[in-house]
Amino acid sequence: MKIEIGQSRPANFREMYPGELSFSSHFECGAVVPNVLSLITTLKENGKYNACFYAGTTFAGNEGKYYVILPGMGQSHTYANILRDREFCVNFISSKYYKACGKTIEHNDDGDDEISEGGFTAKPCKTIKAPRIEESIVSFECRLVSAHDIAGDGKSVLYIGEVQLAHVEENSHLLDRICGPDGFMVNINSAQNLLSEERMPYGAAYLTPFEV
Ligand SMILES: Cc1cc2nc3c(=O)[nH]c(=O)nc-3n(C[C@H](O)[C@H](O)[C@H](O)COP(=O)(O)O)c2cc1C
Repeated sequence: MKIEIGQSRPANFREMYPGELSFSSHFECGAVVPNVLSLITTLKENGKYNACFYAGTTFAGNEGKYYVILPGMGQSHTYANILRDREFCVNFISSKYYKACGKTIEHNDDGDDEISEGGFTAKPCKTIKAPRIEESIVSFECRLVSAHDIAGDGKSVLYIGEVQLAHVEENSHLLDRICGPDGFMVNINSAQNLLSEERMPYGAAYLTPFEV
């Protein structure tokens, strides 16, 4: 049985925390689509390292050009840093670092070096000032090309960065390296039971390959 969800938030939909369904859409919990998780690293205004646990990177490319697209909200440290310095680094991290990534959220003050707080190793990028994370499977050094305010209300913005340089762990061509506990991890948003007020816990997963 298919259940239709319209543009108005259904009465049975519950927020996981106050304001959740103002900052994000009820479609995100009512129609959950997994997203690859990453840590976006930027520099804070005071030069300290910022890291943002992030679900939702997408890509566009053509000959010689590769773009990382970050759908985001209007305000957060990361987006302010990106707009100020016009650069960011996207680091794809495996599931064994899920808890470590969470530490970057717990330690989110201006004075915090969020890469050390997560227990990660910061390495200098070659084309931007922001650091990359050595433990990553893949890191993309990006320069901001443009930021698009989707509806003109400042609430949903697309930040588009052009990849300058990729750092790729050797053996990343192997399916077992892309998938499994040492491969990419995906975010499963806390799903709404469409027939009740129940919200499921947040989840995370890694990939299992199958024969194609
Ligand atoms: C699993 C997970 C996924 C997240 N995905 C996003 C995301 O896609 N976009 C976003 O703005 N925040 C996301 N967050 C929340 C940010 O990580 C969090 O607000 C962080 O503290 C923001 O850091 P900043 O203020 O330094 O930018 C996510 C958090 C978790 C735990």
